[in-house]
Parts: sequence; C-alpha cells; structure tokens
Amino acid sequence: MYLFQRTLIVCVCAWIVRQGTLGAGQISRARLVGGNSNGTGRLELEYNGEWVTIYGSYSSSYFKNIDAKVACRMLGFGNSGVAFVYTNAPDLFGEGTGSVLNHRFQCKGNETNLRQCDTSSWSVSPSTSHTYDVGISCEPTQLRLADGDTPQSGRVEVFFKGQWSSICDSGFDNEDARAICNMLGYHDTGIAKAFTGSHFGQGAGDMILSSVNCKGTETDIKMCAATWGKNNCNHRKDAGVNCDSTPIRLVNGPTNSSGRVEILHGGQWGTICGDSNFDKYDVTVICKMLGIYSPNAFGHRNAFYGEGNGNVIVSSLNCDGSESDIASCQSYAWSVPGSSSSSCSHSNDVGVNCDGVTGIRLMDGTSEQSGRVEIFHNGHWGTISDNYFDNHDLTVICRMMGYEYSSKSFFMKGGHYGNGIGEIVATRLQCNGAESDIGQCSATWWPQTKTESHTNDVGVNCDGVIPIKLLEGDNKTTGRVEILHNGKYGTICSRSFNRLDLTVVCRMMGIENIPQDAYWYPAATYAQGLGEIVVSDLNCNGIEHSVGQCRGTWPAYSSCDHSMDVFVSCNGAPEKLRLVNGKNSYTGRVEIFHAGQWGTICDDSFDRADAVVICRILKFKNPERAVAYSQAHFGQGNQTTHIVASHLHCNGLETNLGQCTPSWNPTGCGHNEDIGVDCCPGCQDIIIG
Ligand SMILES: *[C@@H]1O[C@H](CO)[C@@H](O)[C@H](O)[C@H]1NC(C)=O
Ligand SMILES: *[C@@H]1O[C@H](CO)[C@@H](O)[C@H](O)[C@H]1NC(C)=O
Ligand SMILES: *[C@@H]1O[C@H](CO)[C@@H](O)[C@H](O)[C@H]1NC(C)=O
Ligand SMILES: *[C@@H]1O[C@H](CO)[C@@H](O)[C@H](O)[C@H]1NC(C)=O
Ligand SMILES: *[C@@H]1O[C@H](CO)[C@@H](O)[C@H](O)[C@H]1NC(C)=O
Repeated sequence: MYLFQRTLIVCVCAWIVRQGTLGAGQISRARLVGGNSNGTGRLELEYNGEWVTIYGSYSSSYFKNIDAKVACRMLGFGNSGVAFVYTNAPDLFGEGTGSVLNHRFQCKGNETNLRQCDTSSWSVSPSTSHTYDVGISCEPTQLRLADGDTPQSGRVEVFFKGQWSSICDSGFDNEDARAICNMLGYHDTGIAKAFTGSHFGQGAGDMILSSVNCKGTETDIKMCAATWGKNNCNHRKDAGVNCDSTPIRLVNGPTNSSGRVEILHGGQWGTICGDSNFDKYDVTVICKMLGIYSPNAFGHRNAFYGEGNGNVIVSSLNCDGSESDIASCQSYAWSVPGSSSSSCSHSNDVGVNCDGVTGIRLMDGTSEQSGRVEIFHNGHWGTISDNYFDNHDLTVICRMMGYEYSSKSFFMKGGHYGNGIGEIVATRLQCNGAESDIGQCSATWWPQTKTESHTNDVGVNCDGVIPIKLLEGDNKTTGRVEILHNGKYGTICSRSFNRLDLTVVCRMMGIENIPQDAYWYPAATYAQGLGEIVVSDLNCNGIEHSVGQCRGTWPAYSSCDHSMDVFVSCNGAPEKLRLVNGKNSYTGRVEIFHAGQWGTICDDSFDRADAVVICRILKFKNPERAVAYSQAHFGQGNQTTHIVASHLHCNGLETNLGQCTPSWNPTGCGHNEDIGVDCCPGCQDIIIG
C-alpha cells in the first residue's frame, strides 16, 4: 500500500513539473522542411531555441487545416486559402529529428502566430517517434495535363517537391475530372471525362496522390478527399482527364453531316462500337458535338459507312441526350492505341446522319413521281429490296421525294422498274409512316444486305399515274389498252381479265363509272400490239385508281401472247355494223367495223336473238322481228376480210355485241359461214307485194 502511494505521487509531480516548464510564448519562428518549396513541407517550430516537429496523428485530428492557416500566416503566406495538413507527411517530407511538440493548438484561424492559439496542455517529448510529424502546404497546388490530344486533355500531373508526378486512377471518376478541369480554369466546356489506365501514356516520378475523390467544385486538389503519400500505384494506372470537347469527325458519308463517326483519342482517330445500346440519344449527342441539332438525325450500326481503322475507342455508349459530349455519356472505359483492344470489331462501327436526309431518286419510272427507288450510298446509287415493303414505307419514300402519299400511290416489287446496280442499301424496311426519312425507319441496312438480289428492287409511284392510251380505236373510250412501262408502251393480257379490271382501266381513261354496256374483248388478230405484254391477271377489285394498284402479274404470265391483248369500249357505244350484198338496205351479210377494219361474223351458234341485237344496233324499228341467216346466205366475205367473232351468245336484249360476250378472233370458221340478217321482214313483204 505504501509503495503504491509513493509511486503515484512521484508520477503526478513529474507531470506537473513538465507542464510548468513549458509555455506558448517560447515559440518564435516556423519553417517548412523537405518539400523543395517555401510553401510546402514538414512544419517545424523554433521552440526554446530548438527546431521541433509537431505531433499530428494520422487522421490530422490534432493539427488541423485551421491551425495550418495560422502557421502559413507565420510563414508569410498571409491569409492562405489553401492551407492544408497532409496525412502521412513523413512519407512525403521525411521525418524530423529533434523533439516533438505534442499539443492541440485549436486555433480560430485569425491568429498571426501559433503561440496565440490555445496555450493549455503543452508537452514536448524529446526524441519520441516522428511517425506523425505534421506536414503542411500554404500554396496552391499546381496541376497540368500532359500528352493529351488537345491542350485541355491529358495525363493529370501535380507539381510536388520540385517535380511533376502523375496521380493514381483508383476511384478516379468524372466528378474528379470536373474538379480538375475547374482547377485548370477550363470552366466553360461543361465536359469533363475521367480516364484511367494511363490513357494518355505513362508519366514519371513518384506517385504520391491516390484515391482522389472530389465533389467537383473544389478549387484546389488538396480540398478533395484523397490519400497523400506512398501507395501501391504504378504508372500503368495514371489518371487522365479531357476537359475539352472530344475531337470528332464524320468519314465516308455522302454529305459532310453524315458518315462513320470517328473520335481522336490517344493521338489516333478511332471509332465507336454500335452495340444494341446505340440509339437516338447517342446520335443526338454526336450531332450536337458537330453543331447540328436536327430532330431528324439518325444513326447506323454495322459499319454502314464502311469500317474504320485504328481502335474501336468507345463501347456500350449510353447517352441520355442531354450531354454536350460523348465523353460525358456512360460507356465502357475508352480504349487507346496500344491497349488491349475492345471486343468490338470495326464491323460494328457506328455512323450518323445528322441532317436526317438520305439522298434518294426514282429511276426508270413512267413519270417524275415513279420509278425504282435509289439511295445514294458509298459514292453511288443503290437500291432497296422489297422485303416487307408496304404502304408505310411507300408513304415515307414519297414524302422524301416531296410528294404526299395519296390513295392513288402504289409501290411495285420485284424490280418492276428494272433492276438497279450497286449496293442494295436496305431491306426489310419497316417504317411507321410518320418518318421524314427512311433512315429513321427500322430496317436491315448495308452491309447486311449483301445476299439480296436486284431482282427484288422496289419501285414506287407516288401520284399513281400510269400513262395509258387506247390504240386502234378512238383513243378516248375505245381501243387496245397500252400502258407505259420501261419507257415504252405495252399491252395488257386478257388472261382472267374481267369487268372489275375493265372498271379500273376505264377509270385510268378518266371514266369514273363505266356504263352497264361497257365491254372489252381481246384485240383482233390484225390489231394486236407489238411491244411488251406488261401485265396479266390484273385481279383488280374495281376500286383501284390504276392497274398499278391491282394485284397483277408483272410482267404478264408466260402463256400470254398478243392475241390476248385487251381491247376496251369504256362507253359501251355499239360497234359500227353494216349489211352488205342484200337486195335492200335492211338485208345482207353482217359486217362489223372492228379495230379499224370491216370484218364478218361466223354463224356458229348464231340465232335470232343475235340477229335482234344486230338489228337494234343498226337502229331498225321493231328489231325483235329480225330473221337470222347462216352459211353465207348473202355471199362470202372476200379473202382479205377477217372473221372477227363467233358464238355471239346474245339474249336479245343487249345494246352492243360486246355485252353478248362473243368469241372474238375465232379459229376454224370460214367465210362460207358468214352470217346475215333481215331486219325488216314486214318491209320485205310490202316491197315484194
Ligand atoms: C516563396 O517562393 C516564391 C518563389 O521562390 C516567392 O515568389 C514567394 O514570395 C515565396 N513566398 C514566401 C512567403 O516566402
Ligand atoms: C480572433 O477573433 C475572435 C472573435 O472571433 C476574437 O475574440 C480574437 O480576439 C481574435 N484574435 C486575434 C488574434 O485577432
Ligand atoms: C457542309 O458543307 C456545306 C457546303 O459545302 C457548308 O455550308 C456546311 O457548313 C458544312 N457543314 C458542316 C457541318 O461542315
Ligand atoms: C392518245 O391520247 C393521248 C392523250 O389523251 C395522247 O398522248 C396520245 O398521243 C394519243 N395516242 C394516239 C395514238 O392518238
Ligand atoms: C374485201 O371486202 C372488204 C369488206 O367488204 C372491202 O372493204 C374490200 O375492198 C374487199 N377487197 C377486195 C379485194 O375486194
């Protein structure tokens, strides 16, 4: 018990004595050591004539920035805004030698000398550990960017202890980059991208700064959270920033606002990977970088504008559209020349069309508004394949040509307007119809169209006009139908031709509603066309504006020949008939003016009902009294005269022979079968009587 008390008393006395011998007034001067600068280094105070270091503790909780501010004032730095206490200062400036001053100064910041700060509880430990010696900085940190593509980009270097040293990329992000760009005075760009992995090449010197974590608004890097001192970093992990807009260009496009996107990075131009993330928001940012703000801009993946060289620099680009530079968008780390290359190949290179305007023309059509759709690509004109092509696609193409889609517009598949040459630029177009350009439509684009064939080139006719004429007739309502195709007029094959088809053909002639007695027949043998048989099996439903809108087999079914050329009468006016070789004006061999010539009619199945119709057409009174004659009763037509029809099939009520649906151009009839009529049997009685 006694021994214990004695020991305690001795200790307390020793502590009191030590306190008693120390005083704040004994601090005279300050200096900074080991920092190669009058504003940075280990803080030493002249205390009782001896230079001592200060105990700081690792967390700087003993000696704080506000205490450093007073030290800086002592050192002649005035009211330093950047006074800063380093953790781990011995790593940076070495350890002091003499005594260590152990004291919490707790300065208010306005003191001119540390001795004015709280003067209680001083202690000096002679030659104790210097592990926590305080080191401070009173001066702004100098930063620079090295080896960038532009002055505003490069490896971040900090000037420390007389040399430039790079900083470690651990935790380095765009906020840190933004802060550093601000510190460098690049306030206006609004762009700051962090680069890791010595993107701008490897620096030299000691790396004394790691785990930098700025908020973005700091004015000196010392104000950012960071670890100063030795670290395990190496120069392969040098951090870099780009404070500048990323240099960008478009290559190999048909206009200066379209092409493969290339950016300059690491001293080389490289490309952007068009993975499934690539979308209109990315396009928006890229075009914004080029100064183009069209809402119609669109992008292309899969090296639409050809494959680039160099690195695929950016993958998984994911902009939200508000960024002013792709450097600010999310993406995988950008790759630089010499680094392990991205998994993306140049076959995925993206391109953009910032104006959103594709070069288009219509070729080999029958009017300015029709033809094979051609797209300007890679320096020449290519085509579009007809897969999945529909009216929505048609609408967009006509809009591109400056024409609004109407109910008359139609498209043609299968190289209808001839096969193009060059690249097939797109297939499987799937526009929704609202787009201003096919580039905005979903589609399979070059070069993934390489297996397509020009036999499927698509064509359009925006105003729906197909030039038409009626030959060997009056060219208004009657004649052989010919339509313009491939620069020449050709005929329509009557295979499966019907009244609905006739309705459409006559509508093309400007006759909207054909009369009941309108009719058609295959052209007479001597009145056949010569050119191409353009279409057969029209299969119109009768409401179409032109045969282009009917299903149709283009070109005509192979068994069609010119004997099947369609000849129409849209007004249903009766054929011109005459009676030849009779004793009087109301009897004789029946001749019909057909396709420009007079011909005869064969008596196969000829009966009185047929005769009645003939006499009605000839405008005789009481035609129902007509008498039919067969077997060239009134003599045979001569050998140059054609036998135009047989099997008239009239029921007696018709007003023209077309309505009777005869067999035209019969074979197997001879002039010995020419028909004749007597249209006025009663008149005959009177004359003979
Ligand atoms: C520190 O050194 C710099 C350059 O040598 C000098 O301009 C500056 O005045 C010095 N500052 C103080 C407080 O000594
Ligand atoms: C520092 O400011 C406090 C008030 O905030 C004042 O009481 C004190 O006297 C000032 N000290 C010096 C050294 O000016
Ligand atoms: C594209 O070229 C035209 C004329 O050649 C020029 O007026 C325009 O400014 C250029 N646009 C861009 C984005 O370079
Ligand atoms: C038929 O009429 C059209 C216009 O109505 C005209 O262009 C064409 O030359 C005419 N053809 C003939 C053979 O008269
Ligand atoms: C043959 O008959 C037609 C029609 O009746 C007539 O126009 C033509 O002149 C005749 N030709 C000869 C050589 O008699």
